[in-house]
Amino acid sequence: MKKILSLILVAIFAFNINVKADEGMWFLAFINKNYSQMKAMGFKLSPKDIYDINHSSMKDAVVALDYGSCTAELVSPYGLLLTNHHCGYDEIQQHSSVEHDYLTDGFWAKTRAEELPNPGKTVTFLVRMEDVSDQINALLRDDMTEDEREMTIKKVSEKIKADAIGDTHYEAQVRSFFNGNNFYLFVLETYKDVRLVGAPPSSIGKFGSDTDNWMWPRHTGDFSMFRVYTGPDGKPAEYSADNVPLKPKYFFPVSIKGVKENDFAMVMGYPGSTDRYSTSWGVEQTINNENDIRIKVRGAKQEIIKKYMDKSDKTRIQYSSKYYQSTNYYKYSIGQNQALDKLKVTKDKKAIEKELTKWIESDKENREAKYGETLDLIKKAYTDLETFDKVENYLNESVFGGAEIFMSGYRLSRLYALLEQGEQATIDEYSKKLKESAQDFFKNYDSNIDKEVFVALMEMYKKDVPKEYYPTFFETVDKDFGGDMKKYADKLYSSSIIVDKQKAEAFLANPKKEALDNDMGYQISMSFVQIYRDLYGKTKPFHDNLSKGTRKFVAAWIEMQNEKNPDKLYYPDANSTIRLTYGKVGGYKVGNKIFDYTTDLKGVMDKEDPKNEEFIVSPKLKELYNKKDYGKYADNGRMVVCFTTNNDITGGNSGSPVLNGNGELIGIAFDGNWEAMSGDIAFDPELQKCINVDIRYVLFIIDKYAGATNLVDEMTVVRE
Ligand code: ARG
Repeated sequence: MKKILSLILVAIFAFNINVKADEGMWFLAFINKNYSQMKAMGFKLSPKDIYDINHSSMKDAVVALDYGSCTAELVSPYGLLLTNHHCGYDEIQQHSSVEHDYLTDGFWAKTRAEELPNPGKTVTFLVRMEDVSDQINALLRDDMTEDEREMTIKKVSEKIKADAIGDTHYEAQVRSFFNGNNFYLFVLETYKDVRLVGAPPSSIGKFGSDTDNWMWPRHTGDFSMFRVYTGPDGKPAEYSADNVPLKPKYFFPVSIKGVKENDFAMVMGYPGSTDRYSTSWGVEQTINNENDIRIKVRGAKQEIIKKYMDKSDKTRIQYSSKYYQSTNYYKYSIGQNQALDKLKVTKDKKAIEKELTKWIESDKENREAKYGETLDLIKKAYTDLETFDKVENYLNESVFGGAEIFMSGYRLSRLYALLEQGEQATIDEYSKKLKESAQDFFKNYDSNIDKEVFVALMEMYKKDVPKEYYPTFFETVDKDFGGDMKKYADKLYSSSIIVDKQKAEAFLANPKKEALDNDMGYQISMSFVQIYRDLYGKTKPFHDNLSKGTRKFVAAWIEMQNEKNPDKLYYPDANSTIRLTYGKVGGYKVGNKIFDYTTDLKGVMDKEDPKNEEFIVSPKLKELYNKKDYGKYADNGRMVVCFTTNNDITGGNSGSPVLNGNGELIGIAFDGNWEAMSGDIAFDPELQKCINVDIRYVLFIIDKYAGATNLVDEMTVVRE
């Protein structure tokens, strides 16, 4: 029965060619709906080559790297992975020291034995997915409260997941889509032994750094390599010297044929989050609260950290990963605000809302009854939430994302609860875990820097946030320290066990509740945690209204569109589930200015600036350039570095495979462009591009620059 129904739906959708080609993050399992259009654009394979649960297919070569943060793809029968340099940055940094500075010099394992383990790093495969909307929606009623609704969804989801997992080692998720209107089940498999295999020096992998970040034209060799290992039985296993390379179900052949304008291109990966169904009020809140606060707070924090990084190599290595993580979305927020303004996104959203209002009002009986309250609910929720949102963003950015003392304090709260009423064995086991993570933490921590960040951001918090959200220690600062945050910080950082490696280790060796009761660092962290909890309680009803409003908004909007054009396809917002976006290779135009779709090594040389750390070119790369020693990777004598496509990607897609019409790897996606930084909220079909490193540059660097021919030999390189 069900099958026939879905076949009818496929037939209806199959003739749909009205969708804009480039926009859309589609589900792999339902890609047959887009197939005729993909084929017309140059896709040569079939939907089953993309997603098939009975045979190997492309989905088996695409993984979430540290689920929710990046994407990677398999490129050899021995579990070899390609991803971005910025997705491996943490590991490259963790393995670096002043003596072995892999950030500066790069790293290449010439044998498997040299590959470096990374406890905690994971890759996750999609086993299968399924639409479970009918099962769940059948139990939901419009008169339920949001709590009742959530509980019902949760209960049935647990059952669906348990049935899906059975007695396997798989995990399952039931996620909601289209703002709570649809539900899909995902069955996943996660591997836990992922070793670092290779990374170019930052002067290649991060060439252009913050100046070029989020920009085109770009000249970054943004790639790194890992390998997935399994237990001897081929199943996921924690790191062990006995583990063996994964034998993947599928891996991508690599094409060095090169890209031409209008070539078909598709990207598969794990886009993190978009807000394409956001309303005008949502856009305003993003601009004024989220972005403005992030820009202000991170700007202050980064200035302090950079000052120390520039002074010492040790600090540079210690802080580089944290620093660039912060600057990435700092610059994103600046760009997003500019683009939202320039592309008049709020105005477009208002027009949509006006159209929808008219549509609803024109049918009092049905639509008005069903959707009448929709926009008012949303508008009122945003008004109700305004101050709270501001405080929440300050808590996120200047407290738990500010000085690290706060997150470190918060991480001890579970131990505190155990000390209050846990069993000794549990306490011991948990403190042992904390001791291990403390090792990693202190390796990259300098309490002097943290103290300076603390003072700057707490002064800012005090100035910008209403008094009722002050933590209790602000009173102490005023009463006992004459209002001097710095003096308070001196006391705090010299006494707290949280910010001192020796004291922390001594505490964790024999943890006592009293030690935390008397610790200033722990106490102030918990006072902010309390503020957070209070805020959550107070805002819950408003957030509920917002969820309800946006759920109805999306349902109403799609219903209205369907009346106009029943063939149109819709894709849900990104939420770290695997998607496919297809389109073409090509550049863009802003006014009279043409942005070509490729960049090359000559462009790298043009940007070279030995006095600016962001634009250093290594002697070896220069030598290859001068000799034009590009081997088989040249494009008519030219070494192409990056290219653009009109694929629809966002954060989380980093490291995603860019594939041609034959399903061969032609590049690795790594960024978006400045002119369309509003893309997560509104896709701009003229301006929005996906920035990719050309696979030929990747192979050239591995082969000619690093001489790691062992790695190229593992891959299947094709030319046609
Ligand atoms: N903008 C890229 C992304 O979010 C990250 C690029 C990393 N480079 C850098 N300079 N921070 O995926």
